[in-house]
Amino acid sequence: MSVESINSYDELPYLFNAMPYTQPHRIAAIAQLFGMNPPAPETARILELGCASGGNILATAYTFPKSRCVGVELSARQVAVAQQAIKELDLKNLVINQINIMDFDANAGQFDYIIAHGVYSWVSPTVREKILQICQQHLSPMGVAYISYNTKPGWNMRGTIRDMMLYHTQNIKDPLERVAQMRALWKFLADATQTGQDSYSLFLNEEFKFFANSEESYLFHDFLEEENNPIYFHEFVTQAAAYQLNYLGDAHLHTMLASNFPPEIAQTLELFKDDLVHQEQYMDFLRNRHFRHSLLCHQQVPLKRAISAERVTNLSVVSSLAEVQSTEIPQGKKCFINQSGNLVTDSPIVIAALTYLLEQLPRAVPFVELVEQTQTRLPANITADKEAIFNHIADIILQAYTKGLIELQVGALPFVLQAGNKPTVSALARWRVAHGLKLNNLRFENLNLEHPVVGALLPYLDGTRDRNALVTILEGKIADKSLQLNVKQAGQEIQIAPEQLKELLMQALEESLKALAKSALLIA
Ligand SMILES: C[S@@+](CC[C@H](N)C(=O)[O-])C[C@H]1O[C@@H](n2cnc3c(N)ncnc32)[C@H](O)[C@@H]1O
Repeated sequence: MSVESINSYDELPYLFNAMPYTQPHRIAAIAQLFGMNPPAPETARILELGCASGGNILATAYTFPKSRCVGVELSARQVAVAQQAIKELDLKNLVINQINIMDFDANAGQFDYIIAHGVYSWVSPTVREKILQICQQHLSPMGVAYISYNTKPGWNMRGTIRDMMLYHTQNIKDPLERVAQMRALWKFLADATQTGQDSYSLFLNEEFKFFANSEESYLFHDFLEEENNPIYFHEFVTQAAAYQLNYLGDAHLHTMLASNFPPEIAQTLELFKDDLVHQEQYMDFLRNRHFRHSLLCHQQVPLKRAISAERVTNLSVVSSLAEVQSTEIPQGKKCFINQSGNLVTDSPIVIAALTYLLEQLPRAVPFVELVEQTQTRLPANITADKEAIFNHIADIILQAYTKGLIELQVGALPFVLQAGNKPTVSALARWRVAHGLKLNNLRFENLNLEHPVVGALLPYLDGTRDRNALVTILEGKIADKSLQLNVKQAGQEIQIAPEQLKELLMQALEESLKALAKSALLIA
């Protein structure tokens, strides 16, 4: 979008979500792995350029109350929403300025993290240059900038779809009508080519399926915006270098590693091991990559590209890897799995460590605590000194992280795993639900907690009520029929006797509180 057509976001605001990988506690972990010593996110100055209604920066400011956050956004309608949130949540550490990035205040000072998510390839070359200039001039010496953009070669192919959609909707003004027409044409094309086995038919149908459930706003701003200028990764790195900014790494670090390709491909990629940018460009060719989230630092920052296991020992670990039973697992080994892949091991140390991490999920466990807890959980017949455990866990955590199986972060996030006497859900999450937005947790993830009791309770979990008061509220909801409690016995629904109701509601309350805690939504 050019500066002139910026009002497209006033007509149809962008999605109001937080993005986990734009968050400074994760970015800081990657910077540390590459030998930097970035400022602590908890007290950092953080800038978001093109922050829309503040989905990201509101979450950052709420999560790190001692940070000082600034958002910049041109669309008045979106800024008004963000301002309302700041006021209603009483956030003292966030300011959102309704200005053009081009007019960024030269006296705004230094920022430790500068975030521009979904902006760079959707603006004119002049605004792109300005974004890099802001990073050059306003990033603190050990600061990190995050810039995401549509990339090629993936968008060369996707651009074909965009061209057709722009042509088809050229005479329609209303954004929602344009998206409706876009969906209609896409469906027509996909249906017409459904049985085709040629590459064009397969491509159209695969993309149609991929975007079928995307929201209107996303489709409009990605496919129908006037400006959508995907660039090759190597072009981005060259553009950044013109502003003395160096490519630090990808916000999804595992995508940088040749070792994550099959061995014969990795071997060829290793030929370029001395030229990271070249190597990653070929990875994009292999993956037909569409989207990148690149991290930048100042050129003079010394980086240590070979990541040593020792560097994970200052970080905290989140792992959802859970043991699975299967006859395919080799004898004597155990397999831990999550949606990103699996890890097979016969090491009692690794088994104990992964089991502890799973118990603590969604909490990030500091490395030192992980070592201590692993030591206490080892089977009696295993003798290993603390140093051996320390080194072994460091190796496996680094391996799992570089495969994209677990997360690393700096510091802790402010949620609890057990509800206190007066259970409290994050005020931001309650605010979002009250305003009809998706539930977003304190790990910046969108959630779908479609549980009737959780839904009924959420507005009341503000830290002013104990369990009895909460059960009384649930009783009221049952009485006025706004909540139904379906209890089944042997698959059949049964009538609940009035004297049983309180006890059942107390059980339902405890279950709901556990679900909220496991979803990183409880702060007390
Ligand atoms: C695709 S949205 C991304 C929003 C947000 N960063 C996120 O991830 O949800 C791009 C945003 O950048 C804003 N934007 C684009 N050009 C701008 C400019 N020149 N000055 C200020 N904001 C701009 C748009 O108004 C829009 O809200």
